[in-house]
Amino acid sequence: MKLKEKLREFTQLKKGLLATNYYDLETLHGVLQAAADTKQPVILQLTQSSIEYMGLKTAVNLGRNGLEEFGVEGWIHLDHGGSVELVQRCLDAGFDSVMIDGSELPFDENVRVTREVVARAKRYDVHVEAELGYVAKLGQSHDSTGFTQPDEASAFVEQTGVDALAVAIGTAHGFYKQEPKLDIDLLRRIAEKTAATLVLHGSSGVPHDQVQQAIYHGVCKVNLATEIKNIFMASLKNELTHNDEIDLRKVFPKATCKITELVRTKLEMVANVPVF
Ligand code: 13P
Ligand code: ZN
Ligand code: NA
Repeated sequence: MKLKEKLREFTQLKKGLLATNYYDLETLHGVLQAAADTKQPVILQLTQSSIEYMGLKTAVNLGRNGLEEFGVEGWIHLDHGGSVELVQRCLDAGFDSVMIDGSELPFDENVRVTREVVARAKRYDVHVEAELGYVAKLGQSHDSTGFTQPDEASAFVEQTGVDALAVAIGTAHGFYKQEPKLDIDLLRRIAEKTAATLVLHGSSGVPHDQVQQAIYHGVCKVNLATEIKNIFMASLKNELTHNDEIDLRKVFPKATCKITELVRTKLEMVANVPVF
């Protein structure tokens, strides 16, 4: 099924579609095992730095082949694409979906670059996500000044024809110093004004009931990255201090299993949203 159709279906069912970042074979397998165990679809995301780390072809084919091998329904997505050039390389490499992140640009510039990406992606029948408002990047402080405004969101979606929109409603990338408090009322007002799929970035560290409230009130795609890296590295460090095994294929899988446990919980959380 095309990603667009799946998102439409899930939005109607008030179910979230989890989008997890992968960085290598281990993080990919950890996620795919969880998706296979729970029989849930998943979006596999690559950032520019993951693409540089693995190489574009290796990265996309690793994801694609992994989906097939694990029997998982999923899509390969460019996360936070920073330029039209990178998007174009991903379109040529066979991605199912691309994000162009113009969130730090003035509104009109964001519209211009997003329109350009939408026009290119259309030729490949590829799904497009953009961001309006600003979700703080890793390590940046965040406050409500960058929150998405409902009227702007509706104008942005109309002017760009984008399929999905990342909204700023109180999340930030990475962990939080203080527990975040999502502005669900703002989210509802945004959802009322636009038909685009709404995307929650920065879901690591957000209490599950708040993620579920966001899904109930209009979010469908839920992005998760930091918790995956964190649980993998924490487990690996622990493993290495208690182990002098040199066969990495015997050491890594223990950390990979931790990702599977984490992602299984997240997949169940986004798929079973109570009434709010
Ligand atoms: P976290 O790292 O906070 O989970 O955010 C992930 C994200 O938004 C990827 O685009
Ligand atoms: Zn993000
Ligand atoms: Na976060």
